[in-house]
Amino acid sequence: MSEEFEQRISYYSDRIAAKLDSVLPGPEVEPCRLHEAMRYSVFNGGKRVRPLLVYAAGECLQVPESRLDSPAAAIELIHAFSLVHDDLPSMDDDDLRRGLPTVHRQFDEATAILAADALQPLAFSALTEIDDISSDTHVQLVQLLANACGSIGMTGGQSIDLQAEGRTLGAEELEHMYALKTGALIHASVMSACLLAEAVPPDRAAALDGFSRALGVAFQIRDDILDVEGQTEVIGKSAGSDVRLNKATYPGLLGVDESRKRCDELLTDGLQFLDVLGTAEPLTWLARFIVDRGK
Ligand code: IPE
Ligand code: IPE
Ligand code: MG
Ligand code: MG
Ligand code: MG
Repeated sequence: MSEEFEQRISYYSDRIAAKLDSVLPGPEVEPCRLHEAMRYSVFNGGKRVRPLLVYAAGECLQVPESRLDSPAAAIELIHAFSLVHDDLPSMDDDDLRRGLPTVHRQFDEATAILAADALQPLAFSALTEIDDISSDTHVQLVQLLANACGSIGMTGGQSIDLQAEGRTLGAEELEHMYALKTGALIHASVMSACLLAEAVPPDRAAALDGFSRALGVAFQIRDDILDVEGQTEVIGKSAGSDVRLNKATYPGLLGVDESRKRCDELLTDGLQFLDVLGTAEPLTWLARFIVDRGK
């Protein structure tokens, strides 16, 4: 990873941490236990890939950073909510997340459900905190995130994932599930920056759309590979969780080598879309990081 990239990541990571801190009620605010659980789910060492994508796409389109803080925070809050639910006993029943006990383990199941419940509206409230855009753009932004989060996006994908346990899905069905459960928020991250840019020409918007769709599927394939090959201490979640749950996954269907090939192919396809943008270095870096990541 280049030094410049690392510096940029660290700058944006600090920026999103500050924004999330300002959006989340303090742990001393009643009901304290709920707010503690919400903060625990957000400030426990996530990679912040989705906010980084918002900032990187914004950088490519010359969007002022201050306009990107709210969507970046909103998407990370939705992501945190999705992980709290994903780990629940009724879903993936996981005890470890980011190297720490999952929220229902650290607190209790009801608190975990409620913390996730509260993170979701907080995300939409955070989205209203942009003051230099038109109300039309605001509405489009809310729509983008609502669709990405709901039954035709992440939540729908999670439903397909649960129903597929113990069944064999073909590659196409798997990619559809990945596009929804993981791809939808990755897509919304890139496209929210696109919405916030001034008059993006249709070919550039289409390029970002294609890029983020390819990247979203690659992201989940990499996650599935790490579940097979990674070590619990490194990935911060219980390795082998997918096999234990009989999940339908790419490595389960085609093996790790084929999965890696597909991931690389999606990266190549995704990066090709970016050609139209001329220089898109921050996005190129992030895409490579996502496909090569070790956790
Ligand atoms: C994990 O996402 C869940 C998936 C969608 C695969 P991340 O790998 O982005 O998790 P954190 O936020 O860095 O912990
Ligand atoms: C989860 O996929 C995707 C979400 C929408 C939360 P996984 O169930 O594979 O994510 P991890 O491995 O628990 O992070
Ligand atoms: Mg899951
Ligand atoms: Mg899981
Ligand atoms: Mg996983």
